[in-house]
Amino acid sequence: QPRVFSGVQPTGNLHLGNYLGAIRKFVALQDNNDCMYCVVDMHAITAQLVHDDLIGQTRSIAAAFIAAGIDAKKHIVFNQSTVPEHAELAWIFNCVARIGWMNRMTQFKDKAGKDREQASLGLYAYPSLMAADILVYRGTHVPVGDDQKQHLELARDIAMKFNLDFADKIRASGHGVDITVGDEPVHALFPMVEPLIDGPAPRVMSLRDGTKKMSKSDPSDLSRVNLLDDAETISKKIRKAKTDPDGLPSELAGLAGRPEADNLVGIFAALADRTKADVLAEFGGQQFSVFKPALVDLAVSVLSPVTEEMRRLMQDTSHIDAILKDGGERARARAAQTMAMVREVVGFLR
Ligand code: TYM
Repeated sequence: QPRVFSGVQPTGNLHLGNYLGAIRKFVALQDNNDCMYCVVDMHAITAQLVHDDLIGQTRSIAAAFIAAGIDAKKHIVFNQSTVPEHAELAWIFNCVARIGWMNRMTQFKDKAGKDREQASLGLYAYPSLMAADILVYRGTHVPVGDDQKQHLELARDIAMKFNLDFADKIRASGHGVDITVGDEPVHALFPMVEPLIDGPAPRVMSLRDGTKKMSKSDPSDLSRVNLLDDAETISKKIRKAKTDPDGLPSELAGLAGRPEADNLVGIFAALADRTKADVLAEFGGQQFSVFKPALVDLAVSVLSPVTEEMRRLMQDTSHIDAILKDGGERARARAAQTMAMVREVVGFLR
């Protein structure tokens, strides 16, 4: 049966890219699925070891999940470090994954920067922990932004190699299930992860440069709308967003080669739960002087209830802490089931 899993790092403030690429999709998926949403605090120390307030950041991501509308009673909201099985499975995956696979990870190359020798071993192994996050629950569907696609392909490669390397042991254990991968029948312990990346804004771009991803680490705060920005700030940032001098096209093809226009239309569509084509049918032929104020109104009306609720939740941390504790306990019970099978298959004596 399908199981949705996704994670968000507690590093810096959440922005519109995180909201549209991930959190809004988390909310949409919860009606028909069993969902687990995780604040990945162990991933947060891979790029920067010491944080001013990792605990506060962890709470604030959890608050954003709840404020956006995730039901933590029906589903599971927790932070990664409360379930040590993630790290345990990640170690096994470190022995499954090949160095050559890790060397191809573009996010590692970006984050490690020029002096790769000085990057932490944890940053290098990051995708292996991410695969463990999902597979320790035998998660099947993972809503993420486009930038996580390569990591999810790696998770599939790791799952596949584990299934094949341990095929005989999995069969002998009786724990596997028959799946098909491509045309190939596999008796698998781990399912093949399906990324859920679609939608009008899989990759929200910087408001200052339509060729760069909107990111927490961009030095210009004008490049992004933060989830905690007030209405006035949102308005200022969108009004100042870079555009070209032309008006909006009436059809999708007219957005080709116009990254800034494409980005703003995608943001509008995602916020309104419409398609880009539909937005262009309404605004085609209009100038940005008309479109931008409409986008400001829409962004403020969608984001401010989330922002307000997030602020309210952050005032009483005991509520958020209780949600995370309860979620962690429920998650751990599930992880324990998978790990019992994995230890048996690998041959770890208990
Ligand atoms: P993180 O914390 O960088 O980002 C959280 C989510 O936001 C999405 N995102 C974007 N989507 C669209 N446009 C953007 N500009 C943009 N920026 C960020 C990300 O794709 C992500 O979905 N490695 C993950 C966290 C993680 C994870 C996992 C995710 C750890 N374990 C297991 C899924 C499953 C990350 O760093 O996301």
